[in-house]
Amino acid sequence: MTIQDDPARPGDRFAIRVRDLHKSFGSHEVLRGVDLDVERGRINVIIGGSGQGKSVLMKHLMGLLKPDRGSIFVDGVDLVPMGDHALNKVRRKFGMLFQYAALFDSLTVLENIEFPLVEHTRMKRSERTALVKETMASLDLAELLLKKHPSELSGGQRKRVGLARALVLKPAILLYDEPTTGLDPVATKNVDDMIQGISQKTGVTSVVISHDMASTFGIGDRISMLHEGRIVESGTPDEIKRSRYAFLRHFVEMSGAVEMSALLEDQRTGGEA
Ligand SMILES: Nc1ncnc2c1ncn2[C@@H]1O[C@H](COP(=O)(O)OP(=O)(O)OP(=O)(O)O)[C@@H](O)[C@H]1O
Ligand SMILES: [Mg+2]
Repeated sequence: MTIQDDPARPGDRFAIRVRDLHKSFGSHEVLRGVDLDVERGRINVIIGGSGQGKSVLMKHLMGLLKPDRGSIFVDGVDLVPMGDHALNKVRRKFGMLFQYAALFDSLTVLENIEFPLVEHTRMKRSERTALVKETMASLDLAELLLKKHPSELSGGQRKRVGLARALVLKPAILLYDEPTTGLDPVATKNVDDMIQGISQKTGVTSVVISHDMASTFGIGDRISMLHEGRIVESGTPDEIKRSRYAFLRHFVEMSGAVEMSALLEDQRTGGEA
């Protein structure tokens, strides 16, 4: 299916539309026909078990991995056939908070956060530093951290420095790969509040990979589950709570953080995987 086949859903509502995406590493088929719609200006959460391909899928969204086949429409334009030059332009629309924050250990906080500005703009050093400071302030990161190295930071600070780096180019789309992994409940709540705050203040489109069901249902406007290489369910938190998909129900209930809605009698017999 292409965007044009789907007039009922104008392209504008969705910042990203993935169609029939396939990706294997050797004989390991990781993505086996992913269809995913990412709602513009909303928080879109992707859930799924470890090793199901969530990070691989996210890297495809901004063109960091090439699929074997399929389409990835960003603002209506498929980035799969693009060459490096065009792809670089599309990437500027994105900010990404990598799993484990992935900071450059040999660079200072300042150098880490200004990295996208050095790569993608011709700003002067003073302009870059001013923008870095402004971004840090918006995330409650003290300026005295500027000269520190990542190894001197706490886990929560590293996440926020990673987030500052993702935000510094003021991207239209923000990708967060497990932003709360390894954080205590208070720090998790802070990161969740930050993601929601950024979303509400800037209207940015957010895609969040999460294994934390309390976060997922707390901040998600739309939740999609990746399982066995496909998106098996997608909807609002309430729709997901009413899902008939047995694996999803089990996955969410196992967390103990969210209660699924009871199924109606006539739903129980409905066919599903
Ligand atoms: N560059 C790569 N080369 C080979 N295999 C890879 C590569 N990247 C990912 N994989 C494999 O693809 C599968 C999916 O990996 P991925 O990191 O996307 O999982 P995930 O859903 O993000 O898991 P987690 O929740 O643990 O982060 C794994 O089996 C992984 O080993
Ligand atoms: Mg991952």
